[in-house]
Amino acid sequence: MLPEILSRPAALNRRLRDDAPVFQDPESGIFFISRYEDVLAMIKDTATFSSVMGGKSTRAIESKDPEVRAIMAEGYPNVPTMLTQDPPLQRRYRKFVDGAFSPANLKSLEPFIEQTSHELVTAFIDRGECEFRADFAAGLPLRVIASQLGAPMEDLHKLLEWTNTFIANLSMQLDAEGARAVARSVVEYQHYFVERLEERRRSPTDDILSKVVNASIDGEQPLNNAECLSMLNQILVAGNETTASTFTEGVWLLINHPTQYDIIRRDPSPEIISCFVEEVLRVTSSSANSPRRTTRDVELHGVMIPENAICFARFASANQDDAQFPNGMKFDITRDNLKDHIAFGKGVHHCLGAALARRELNIGFQVIFERLENFRLQPDAKEPQFSPNALLHGLPSLPIAFDGIN
Ligand code: HEM
Repeated sequence: MLPEILSRPAALNRRLRDDAPVFQDPESGIFFISRYEDVLAMIKDTATFSSVMGGKSTRAIESKDPEVRAIMAEGYPNVPTMLTQDPPLQRRYRKFVDGAFSPANLKSLEPFIEQTSHELVTAFIDRGECEFRADFAAGLPLRVIASQLGAPMEDLHKLLEWTNTFIANLSMQLDAEGARAVARSVVEYQHYFVERLEERRRSPTDDILSKVVNASIDGEQPLNNAECLSMLNQILVAGNETTASTFTEGVWLLINHPTQYDIIRRDPSPEIISCFVEEVLRVTSSSANSPRRTTRDVELHGVMIPENAICFARFASANQDDAQFPNGMKFDITRDNLKDHIAFGKGVHHCLGAALARRELNIGFQVIFERLENFRLQPDAKEPQFSPNALLHGLPSLPIAFDGIN
């Protein structure tokens, strides 16, 4: 959990895969599961590896600090829904949103994604440089999610702030004051979205928020506010942060791998861009680790994991496992098993937004390759550093220069 290791975990992950595939972190007591086949087996076995953390949560807002609890009491209770729930309840919640993320619904979003990508590039192309994360990578998913969650464009900064709040909530790097600040921001988010929920109940539109709020599955009551808020916060964090980090690292990988970049320059077809996107998803694995709680004693590779222990499914490590991806730490868009990565997880919790993220990444990069080339770090910029976060992996900024294509 040291910040310097969290921000550069690849070497540690390799040692774990080679020498200690089940390793208990001495500080936090968390068990790290690092090999591809073990991570896959673990996330499929939801009876043994539960997503309901109970009193074992690593999230700041579930801390026992009385001040954090007092702040949270002014908001809505934290209800375990999709990501933080097990089947059959997890499936019940998924049913409320699956329709909103259906292929037909996503198809209708494509023109908006393309137009927004062009608008973002137009805003900085003449400068010949930009801060790629803020100016494009974060901007595109944020606008897509805002358009679907009924938030007006002038509130984009609020959505970004709350996304950052939820990420800090997961980081395991907060002191007491940091945890309280996160709690205050979460309560503010809750009150803001309850107003949006009421609006959509009164007058539904065709956005995702309306579908979530008004869906009634199998004759059941529609979701209540606390349930909706839990689902929305997952969509907000998962939808913004992970996609933004994948876009950003995609450009950073191009800068560092000119021969791979040349393959795309020679043939920027949708097929090649799709291969590039899949390899960026694998190498980035922005949802790097995901927690599970054991419901019984389990023995794995000779290590006894006791009941009620927290384990991390280390997706980022699994995706670099040489046993699954030959020379797994290498970025190679010509691999023949590009789609075997588990950057979107697998099984019942397989990412709700995977198809949306793929549309955003493919269309966004298509526009980027049409209009920009010759990416490089700005001459006076320092080497970018990844954020230290226990669960999420990403570059907080990427100052680049480029040539515009006329
Ligand atoms: C590159 C982008 C993305 C990556 C790498 C990613 C990664 C993941 C992973 C690994 C999981 C499974 C976690 C687990 O098993 O514990 C997951 C679940 C989830 N993702 Fe994504 N995600 C991305 C984009 C999105 C988007 C755009 C949305 C929504 C708009 C989204 C919403 C969700 C939700 C709601 C879940 C929980 C599903 C469940 O537990 O039933 N994600 N994502």
